[in-house]
Amino acid sequence: MRNGPHGYGIVTKTLHWVVFVAIVVQFAVGYLLDVDDGGRGRGRGRGRGEGSGRGRGRGRGGEDAYEPFGDDALLTVHVVLGATVLLLGAARLARRLATPLPPWAPTLTAAERRLAHRTETTLYAATFAVPVTGVALVLSGDDLLVVHIAAQAVLYAALTAHVGLVLKHQLIDRDHLLGRML
Ligand code: HEM
Ligand code: HEM
Repeated sequence: MRNGPHGYGIVTKTLHWVVFVAIVVQFAVGYLLDVDDGGRGRGRGRGRGEGSGRGRGRGRGGEDAYEPFGDDALLTVHVVLGATVLLLGAARLARRLATPLPPWAPTLTAAERRLAHRTETTLYAATFAVPVTGVALVLSGDDLLVVHIAAQAVLYAALTAHVGLVLKHQLIDRDHLLGRML
């Protein structure tokens, strides 16, 4: 169950992949929110006409308000799933702090260990920052979308480094690093 000299425990592994799937689905829902603007009063209408920007024209919520639990089911899914990512991220961090990490894979060089450490710290930070900026966006109306997107960019960058390192070890070094998380 626990992490230890044998490697990552089942709880860490399960949380890793559940959060991964949740984040992938969440990105898909996020981009669907964006393109699917027909008739919902949402989407990229900014500047194209009066009151046609994101989240406007929904009536009850006022000029710039999002209504997470209004008649827009996709937005409700996005908010609920985002909150789930936040909770799972907290559970994961608690788990990480409560059980020791396994030793480094011996095939990682010193530089790769530094990179992996920084990348994992950034991934944890982004797992919180993306949903928190989403909540801030809903509370602020339209204004903080750029911050939500900036947090996503940080997540993309860290994820690229993370997956890049794993792929390098899978395909070039052929040490089956991926197996540590399976
Ligand atoms: C892991 C968590 C999350 C991910 C990966 C994510 C991803 C995304 C993406 C990809 C977009 C579209 C951005 C674009 O226009 O390019 C978006 C938009 C948005 N997100 Fe999130 N999001 C997350 C959490 C949240 C949470 C928790 C909330 C609110 C409580 C939220 C609220 C919103 C809102 C209101 C929009 C703008 C929708 C629109 O105007 O079309 N997000 N998100
Ligand atoms: C949103 C996506 C992801 C996040 C946030 C993430 C985050 C993390 C974190 C924080 C760790 C350190 C262990 C822990 O604290 O749980 C880790 C380890 C690992 N991840 Fe990911 N990861 C993601 C996606 C992926 C993907 C797509 C792969 C496969 C290509 C992958 C493969 C691994 C492997 C093999 C390890 C173990 C590395 C080692 O210590 O030897 N991760 N990941």
